[in-house]
Amino acid sequence: ETQQKALFIIFGGTGDLAKRKLYPSLFKLFEKGFLNENFAVIGTARRPWTDDFYRNVVTESLAGVSEDKTKIADFASHFYYQSHDVTDVAHYITLKKLADDLDAKYQIEGNRMFYLAMSPQFFGTIATHLGSQNLVTKNGFNRLIIEKPFGRDFESAKKLNDEITNTFDESQIFRIDHYLGKEMIQNIPAIRFGNIITQTLWNNKYIDNIQLTLSESLGVEERGGYYETSGAMRDMFQNHIMQVVSLLTMDMPKEFVASEIRKEKLKALEAIRVLKPEEVDANFVRGQYGANEAGTEKAYRDEEQIAPDSMMETFIAGRLMIDNERWSGVPVYVRSGKRLVEKNTEINIVFKNVEKNIFGTSDEHEHLGKDVLTITIEPDERFRLTINTKEIGQGFNTNKTNLDYVNSPETKANTPEAYEKLLLDALNGIAINFAHWNEVAKAWNVADVILNSWHNNDDDKTVFPNYLSGSMGPEASAKLLTDDGNYWIYNP
Ligand code: BG6
Repeated sequence: ETQQKALFIIFGGTGDLAKRKLYPSLFKLFEKGFLNENFAVIGTARRPWTDDFYRNVVTESLAGVSEDKTKIADFASHFYYQSHDVTDVAHYITLKKLADDLDAKYQIEGNRMFYLAMSPQFFGTIATHLGSQNLVTKNGFNRLIIEKPFGRDFESAKKLNDEITNTFDESQIFRIDHYLGKEMIQNIPAIRFGNIITQTLWNNKYIDNIQLTLSESLGVEERGGYYETSGAMRDMFQNHIMQVVSLLTMDMPKEFVASEIRKEKLKALEAIRVLKPEEVDANFVRGQYGANEAGTEKAYRDEEQIAPDSMMETFIAGRLMIDNERWSGVPVYVRSGKRLVEKNTEINIVFKNVEKNIFGTSDEHEHLGKDVLTITIEPDERFRLTINTKEIGQGFNTNKTNLDYVNSPETKANTPEAYEKLLLDALNGIAINFAHWNEVAKAWNVADVILNSWHNNDDDKTVFPNYLSGSMGPEASAKLLTDDGNYWIYNP
């Protein structure tokens, strides 16, 4: 391990994300030696906390992460708190003084990680002040890490981006999409470009369709306020789904470096057909959960902070078409929803039938079944290849066999969590697993048409709810595939 020198300045240091994700991840990096003596954190938020109080909060956030009291105390001693109003210039002057003092004390040599773990409405203000009040150093690296949402449509995303790029250039901006930190998502390029069998078959000659399911069993929980401004399209599709689709469909990058990968991802995103408003209904389905059959789970409209006639979607399913030589004619089906049967994130690559079935044995369509490569992201980490084999016994019948590999619970437990990996990448300046502005922009172009078409037609409030909690979403989601002669492979 090489130790990195860095001062983290976390805006939103008292928040939920900081406590749940950032402090545990930073601790892991500290424990593993990626961060050590030359490291400090300034947490800021409006509340008037003392350093001691803040260190206690940090320590408490590590319950369940480590038992090593000495290590935890050592780690927490690197944390400092600064009460801060993001709109007040004077506060940046105080903050700069503390930052410079800590830089000297810990010999950090000017490296700064500005982490904006708060509402994006302040991103522009913060970035501007970081520049004008000279918190951005001249001698070290300066990186801005930001969390979604990156706007709520293309226009607002562009405005946000313009605001931060006044101070930070694209190479200094690390946009977090935590799906890109997941082990099995990072496996996609390995599977695709590290194997001749997948590399050669990964096109419309051999692949029939691609399916991506991001299913959740939980509802909106206590995040109703946010979710009412978002919905599944903005919460899951515009970011996570579009990122994963780009990894699944991009051409092979020349080299495994951010610049080349981003080039290919962007080309892939640009090839995704932007629907015309009149095409939306035939290609995209929206849903909102009702209560469950037993009535023990609340309908979305009955959750806290949700309008009783809310038209926000908690489920989406869609058919994406990709207009390039590799993918022309291959539908990419995507879906995501809350309160579905179970938590499961999975990719299914469905291959074409063999041209001729010489065995006579067949499924109802006179074909041997299609081969399927399944990559399960969560909760299991699994590769499965479903192929046709001979059924054991007399005569000659075929059946399906699963070639299965699942990471063991021990392996999983020792795998770094997404945030830990992404933080280390950002520290090392590796941008592979962060979203480039151009990708974000393209993804909005695809999403905007769908969102506009839906929300311009919100007069009839009776269309929702349209699926039961504990189901796999509205009927129309299954129909999207059966209309094409396909079906969802993952069908719990
Ligand atoms: C977040 C969304 O980005 O992803 C949440 O805001 C969602 O609504 C979560 O629950 C799902 O992430 P994961 O890692 O649990 O699949």
